[in-house]
Amino acid sequence: MADTIVLTGIKPTGMPHLGNWVGAIRPAVEMSHAADQRGFYFIADYHALTGLREAKLMREYTYSLAATWIALGLDPDKVVFYRQSDIPEVFELSWVLACFSPKGLMNRAHAYKAQVQKNQENGEEDLDAGVNMGTYTYPILMAADILIMNTNWVPVGGDQQQHVEIARDLAQYFNRQYQRDVLTLPEARIDEQGAVIPGLDGRKMSKSYGNHIPIFSTPDQLRKLVARIATDSSRPGEPKDPDSSTIFQLYRLLATASETEALKAEYQAGIAWKDAKDALYNLLDAKLSGPRQRYEELVANPAELDRIFREGAEKARPIAAKTMARVRKAVGVGR
Ligand code: TRP
Repeated sequence: MADTIVLTGIKPTGMPHLGNWVGAIRPAVEMSHAADQRGFYFIADYHALTGLREAKLMREYTYSLAATWIALGLDPDKVVFYRQSDIPEVFELSWVLACFSPKGLMNRAHAYKAQVQKNQENGEEDLDAGVNMGTYTYPILMAADILIMNTNWVPVGGDQQQHVEIARDLAQYFNRQYQRDVLTLPEARIDEQGAVIPGLDGRKMSKSYGNHIPIFSTPDQLRKLVARIATDSSRPGEPKDPDSSTIFQLYRLLATASETEALKAEYQAGIAWKDAKDALYNLLDAKLSGPRQRYEELVANPAELDRIFREGAEKARPIAAKTMARVRKAVGVGR
């Protein structure tokens, strides 16, 4: 049987945080070690353009994201690791898919709907205020990312499931029209554990809430962030509920099963919040200090990252070109 093609992308919109690691990067890296899979991992830089308009930041975030993935275990020699903007076929396919996408499908996409709702709540007269066409057609570009590489599985967080379903729908419309399997139908693989990663205040960890822990914080920053995690007012010696504790929830996402059991027992025995925070800090530091060093080496050496991107594009483009040739032939354009 042919290898399963696994593909995922991340937008360079800021320094990645623990939620991104546990929810997206870690499961993707784990999948990349599976023997019967072929992994495609890319930086979705043109997706970021819907909101990121500073060239300097775009570049900085792109490099730091690439360095993050590699530092956390993605091996560019074993997978195809590339930058979306280096694959022009993606944008050609995106147009074709746009022509197969009912406008109503885009109206129902979450990110767009959320913006419309916000406008409604703010009493905006124009419900489309602040929505550019990049945001509106975002799921189409994402479908092109997925379909161009003949993807079988897309490991993503729960918030992206709808987008993968849209990609599948568009592939189906296309195949039905031309009565052959030109495009492979993708499937979302949701890492359930990654679905709810709490931030410092207990809400979902998100940069927009300002409650996130950047993966490569310095040890000092890390200690300060952990100290900020919200706790209840129970005192040392009082038994504590691990399930409602953000410290515990973060700890268990990173610890082994036996470490988690041990901390649970300490909660029942009334661990002081300060000691629980120390346990979390020590675990984070132990897991991240090696990758942090590799990360720093890489961001200091953009030429090395450029070389990695170039090699990735050299592997990805022939595949993209083949898909596009099938699509063009099916549609009846070109020779
Ligand atoms: N939309 C994804 C996100 O916001 C990023 C992304 C772009 C992606 N293209 C993709 C993810 C293709 C998986 C497959 O995180």
